[in-house]
Amino acid sequence: MEKAQKLFDPIWEDYLKQNPHVKKIYELFTDLGERVVNDHIAFRTYNDPRINIDVLAQQFIEAGYEFKGEYQFEQKKLYAKHFELAGFKDAPRIFISELKLEEMSPFLRKTVNALIDQIPTNLLNSPELIFKGRVWEKPSYSIYEKLRQESEYASWLYVFGFRANHFTVNINALKQLDTMDKVIGFLKSNGFKMNTSGGEIKGSPESLLEQSSIIAGTIPIEFIEGIYNVPSCYYEFAKRYKDKNGDIYGGFIAKSADKIFESTDYRKN
Ligand code: NI
Repeated sequence: MEKAQKLFDPIWEDYLKQNPHVKKIYELFTDLGERVVNDHIAFRTYNDPRINIDVLAQQFIEAGYEFKGEYQFEQKKLYAKHFELAGFKDAPRIFISELKLEEMSPFLRKTVNALIDQIPTNLLNSPELIFKGRVWEKPSYSIYEKLRQESEYASWLYVFGFRANHFTVNINALKQLDTMDKVIGFLKSNGFKMNTSGGEIKGSPESLLEQSSIIAGTIPIEFIEGIYNVPSCYYEFAKRYKDKNGDIYGGFIAKSADKIFESTDYRKN
């Protein structure tokens, strides 16, 4: 666990630094006396073999994580894997998704290939890549917008690169805010907006996993054309239930995760 914790610390620091809205929520929870435990941490990438899920997973595998499940998101053209730390039920799960480039337009593929060409060769296939953020030149707002029309996921990655897309508060570990309704009520009373795609709560006690998230905060990003505010990262909340054997459900539900992805994509028309 110690080895894994050493990986999370810099990722968490970077995430808080970049996302003041997340820091605010974290502080609101801790001010209530809650101990915030992470259910999972999510990362995004493109499926080029030099930077794909398996490349980003290397550090975690090295720290004792094991592959536990895979997920397909047909419409968003994504594939994902989740990993768990063997022997540590309370360690955060790692959820890494990748965009299936072969299913995308020639424009998108060409753009992404040009980005990968800019990555220093020592970072390709490297366990270090996951800590590096954006590893290509300053983005162009017009390319960002064009990517966004085809895949909001691709455009987010173009701007933010390799870093946590979100952390997730484990509601099971909270004392006062111990239901999804209480968490959502608390967030809304503090002025936060929830991602309502697929409903505020995705999943149900019957499906053994409930998830909810705020919409990503916007932060100013320096593009070639100037500074624009764009959605950065969000904070997710998950409550897990026991299966019929009495074990807490540990997986993910593709239908729910599909809607959670839209927490960075709320500017449709
Ligand atoms: Ni998530």
